[in-house]
Amino acid sequence: MTEVQLRHLHKSYDGQRPAVSDLSLRMPCGRITALLGPSGCGKTTVLKMIAGLLPPDQGDISFNGRSILSIPAEKRGAAMVFQNHLLFPTMNVFDNVAFGLKMRGEPKAVIRQRVEEMLALVKLPGYGRRQPHQLSGGQKQRVALARALIIKPKVLLLDEPLSNLDAHLRLEMRDLILGLQRQMEITTIVVTHDQEEAVILADHIALIFEGVLQQVGEPGDFYERPSSLPIARFFGGVNFIPGVKNGLRVQTNLGAFHICDTEGMPDGPAILTIRPENVEVHHGPHDENCVPGRIVSHIYAGTHTRFKIATADPALPPLEVITDAASQRLYEDGAAVQVQLPPAKIWLLPETEAHV
Ligand SMILES: Nc1ncnc2c1ncn2[C@@H]1O[C@H](COP(=O)(O)OP(=O)(O)OP(=O)(O)O)[C@@H](O)[C@H]1O
Ligand SMILES: [Mg+2]
Repeated sequence: MTEVQLRHLHKSYDGQRPAVSDLSLRMPCGRITALLGPSGCGKTTVLKMIAGLLPPDQGDISFNGRSILSIPAEKRGAAMVFQNHLLFPTMNVFDNVAFGLKMRGEPKAVIRQRVEEMLALVKLPGYGRRQPHQLSGGQKQRVALARALIIKPKVLLLDEPLSNLDAHLRLEMRDLILGLQRQMEITTIVVTHDQEEAVILADHIALIFEGVLQQVGEPGDFYERPSSLPIARFFGGVNFIPGVKNGLRVQTNLGAFHICDTEGMPDGPAILTIRPENVEVHHGPHDENCVPGRIVSHIYAGTHTRFKIATADPALPPLEVITDAASQRLYEDGAAVQVQLPPAKIWLLPETEAHV
């Protein structure tokens, strides 16, 4: 199995603005790492450098501790499935999948057998004679995956593998990728701008903004322990209350809140945050960390209800709260409620210049 390591990687296309800046990251053997970030943040650029399609300006890339920068793309043992140009349009499915083995000069009988195996693996047996234009988007994605896997790569590079697929096909493709990856134990790097895609596919996520690595962790870390306000926002965080931390208390315009753990956060200005699904709503006063509020609006979404609740601080945007679906009947718009922020669910972010 292969561990991929990036060290101080730097790339600029125009010699000025960097597309990738001082990026260092270790991608463990046989696991799936997602490179996540908004459009244009440099994800494809990183993938192309690993594949050998683009030389870095500075830094190093190693497989199992050995630099691969001097090794040409076709000898690196990395296979890339591209964001857009998935297949060779003039070749049928068989020839597309067979391509890597033909380049290696494998005997015809071996190629035939391996292509059939791969097409069965991606659940497209008997599709060899079809032309790419005769396939659906999901089928093209699967042929592209078969074409990458047939060379038994050490490292699989997938650029936005679930984009352009509808919700049902996304789940099917996800299960296929996870199944094949686990079975073949290939170190896999998935690039995506979609946090949900990263969370459902990856063992680890590396979040990149504007070419700069922001946070690396397991999917849950980004929801529960984001390290900055922009990261919390990227993962759907909406409740941000400025305050001042003093030990295990945070003083805000809404009053003081108890917190459980500070994880090294120093005393002083901080932003208190809590995910909408962790805020509790009550009719009357409840234990600690309760503040009065008034229901501004609600959206019933079938599986849950999302409320906006105004607080005593008119300068603070309404808190957003997600409850079970049935709660819509319990709280009318305009109702006075108590909003509870359980201490164990509160997380503190460093105060920034950014507008809260
Ligand atoms: N060949 C190129 N020449 C010049 N600039 C480029 C080139 N390719 C990419 N860029 C620029 O480098 C930056 C990073 O591009 P990259 O394709 O790596 O982004 P990305 O994170 O993959 O985005 P997306 O999610 O939209 O695919 C962008 O600002 C882009 O405009
Ligand atoms: Mg891209």
